Amino acid sequence: MECKYLTYHGLLLPTISHSEDSLEYFEKFQVKDDDVFAITYPKSGTTWMQEILPLILNGGDFTPVKTIPNWDRVPWLEETRAALVMDKMTQPRLMVSHMPYELMPPSFFSSKAKVIYVARNPKDVVVSSFFFHQMASCLGDPGLFEEFLDKFLAGKVMFGKWTNHVRSWRLTDLGDRILYVTYEDMIEDLKGVVRRFSDFLGQKMSEETLEQVVSHCSFNTMKTNAMSNYSLVPQELMDSKKSAFLRKGISGDWKNHFSPEQEEKFSAAIKDEMRGSNIQFPWDE
Ligand code: A3P
Repeated sequence: MECKYLTYHGLLLPTISHSEDSLEYFEKFQVKDDDVFAITYPKSGTTWMQEILPLILNGGDFTPVKTIPNWDRVPWLEETRAALVMDKMTQPRLMVSHMPYELMPPSFFSSKAKVIYVARNPKDVVVSSFFFHQMASCLGDPGLFEEFLDKFLAGKVMFGKWTNHVRSWRLTDLGDRILYVTYEDMIEDLKGVVRRFSDFLGQKMSEETLEQVVSHCSFNTMKTNAMSNYSLVPQELMDSKKSAFLRKGISGDWKNHFSPEQEEKFSAAIKDEMRGSNIQFPWDE
């Protein structure tokens, strides 16, 4: 399949899911005060957030996560589906986005909408993305892992450089409108993180509901949920025989793929670009 990208403010966006119209819709979108955004760089836990957030906001009602595909349940604001589903959503609306902070729509900045930003170790992000490109033929062949690493570091991948994305969102002046978590926090203590989300969003949750949400959002359960595992997407667009969308769901898989030389080069490049930012991640220690 031919792979096409458009360029938006210097970022590559796949035309399978983005268009001039969808980006105009994104820019003109009227954000409301009780909207909730989960923001991620691709392959950092977006689908996981699309599962967790509706359960928290619905007080543990499992109907949406069992009946609505993740892309319509918690749509990407910049993607073509947004215009089709957003009007039907009730407040508080849940959305995801991969956009860097400075490209958010003007109405976002004057609103009180809340944001949860999920970051993931870039070494695991690039591995996850490499396998995702193998299964999602609409994104184009990633080439050899070595070649894909170079593309990733150069920002010649969808949504550009990881370092620009995390810097833009970690250095905002959104104050208590934004909550920062990592994918690794979620792996380590999902229950604790879901509790933090519900506190942040002002949603009380009983211990029983919390347990149910955590169990439903485990990797193995989500893997069997057709509304979240991308099995509804035709095989010619996403071929799960090449690699599952919910592939491994662990932290540290990079160790199985990076050579010592690749690790050294990658870490040095990321460290260099993060210098001066004062941002510390658990994987830096
Ligand atoms: P892997 O490819 O490392 O397995 P995104 O949704 O942003 O595209 O991110 C996809 C990554 O999140 C994949 O990583 C996927 O397996 C992982 N993921 C999704 N749901 C998860 C869950 N419940 N637990 C752990 N990881 C999950």
